[in-house]
Amino acid sequence: MQKIENNKKSRRDFLILASSAMGGVGIAGATWTLIDSMNPAADALAVASVDVNLAPVKEGQAITVMWQGKPIFIRRRTPDEIKAAVNVNMNELVDPQADKDRVQKPEWLVVIGVCTHLGCVPSGQKVSDNRGHFGGWFCPCHGSEYDTSGRIRKGPAPKNLEVPHYRFLSDHSIRIGEEAV
Ligand code: FES
Repeated sequence: MQKIENNKKSRRDFLILASSAMGGVGIAGATWTLIDSMNPAADALAVASVDVNLAPVKEGQAITVMWQGKPIFIRRRTPDEIKAAVNVNMNELVDPQADKDRVQKPEWLVVIGVCTHLGCVPSGQKVSDNRGHFGGWFCPCHGSEYDTSGRIRKGPAPKNLEVPHYRFLSDHSIRIGEEAV
């Protein structure tokens, strides 16, 4: 009887520990939205998925969250940015991909913020940053320019900014690291 009681207690302790750990991930995810640093802690590297609350992000703003050691750029696009991304002749693209195939909701662009040339982190997360001639991101290392869909438009980068797996948990929250269902 004593043994069963002990087992129950250990199981309870485990459940409490497990749910605390889950809570920790959620809090860490929220904190990362405020961090611009490109030097993630070792524990950040191990997190398989990160939930992000998008509600505070206003139209025209972008945030950076860390996921598996990589910066993820999330931009809430303006109607003009969406229009610019959609109205592009596919023949002009180095790595042709329609905007609709890169987003789940037109307002939200989610991409891995790593230049596909040699891996620098492009600028463009702030409106005041150099965003290049296409309104997206500019890589300061060798001058690659990305548009408002994160597609490569100019410079040596061979590919568009990669879109990570993510899914919407609600209208204003996403989980990065899980495929959309
Ligand atoms: S690493 Fe970005 S252009 Fe070379």
